[in-house]
Amino acid sequence: MDGKPTANDLSEVIAADKAHVWHHLFQHKALEENDPRIIVEGKGLRVWDQNGKEYLDAVSGAVWTVNVGYGRKRIVDAVADQLLKLNYFAAVNGSIPGAQFAEMLIDKMPGMSRVYYANSGSEANEKAFKMVRQIAHKKYGGKKYKILYRDRDYHGGTIGTMAAGGQIERNLQFGPFPDGFVMVPHCMEYRKEELGLGHLSGRDFGIAAANLIEEVILREGPETVGALCLEPVTAGGGVITPPEGYWERVQE
Ligand SMILES: Cc1ncc(COP(=O)(O)O)c(C=O)c1O
Repeated sequence: MDGKPTANDLSEVIAADKAHVWHHLFQHKALEENDPRIIVEGKGLRVWDQNGKEYLDAVSGAVWTVNVGYGRKRIVDAVADQLLKLNYFAAVNGSIPGAQFAEMLIDKMPGMSRVYYANSGSEANEKAFKMVRQIAHKKYGGKKYKILYRDRDYHGGTIGTMAAGGQIERNLQFGPFPDGFVMVPHCMEYRKEELGLGHLSGRDFGIAAANLIEEVILREGPETVGALCLEPVTAGGGVITPPEGYWERVQE
């Protein structure tokens, strides 16, 4: 990689982008006066734009998604080989990489036994919500249908996952949302005053923050609650690592 643009007609690419691409998470007004940034190539943890400018990518594809880095030949070859051999067949059937990868994943997830493949985090969470609803119907007369989610957490951009979205400002223009989603308080010690837990800190705060979830379950009726959906570490909502004692108490 020499950091030089790899094609000589990038002005056409830029024009096509400006005319036709609706960028994610971006205010397009800025493109009335400026060109969009086109990321042309990546190697390791560096990427280059259309002007050959080099960036150190400290956030894995700008949204924490390319953790393997760029230009990994071993991965590229494996993907290319498989695309040539069999690019897709409906998952009502099995596939060789599907079975092998599921086994590898399960090895890393004690207590789990089965993998469902989805295209995105949103779709995976939608599937989980559907499982909750289906179990409620099959085993609990439809009653155990509520899905609890936490203030500040994010679970995706579909209507269903936004119903479980704890960042209210993201949801303002997209309601109404489906019923049966109930918010529980966050566990951010920095804002403990708003939880009424200003007098606690560290582990004591962690346990008390988890107890606030129990209060919601008791208020809603445990027989109506089918799932609790939490980010292990709240990411986009403020990078909130739950305090000591929190997860143990949640699991109880
Ligand atoms: C914690 C969490 N869950 C779910 C999602 C949704 O994933 P996707 O964007 O792949 O639909 C995200 C995306 O940022 C996320 O951060």
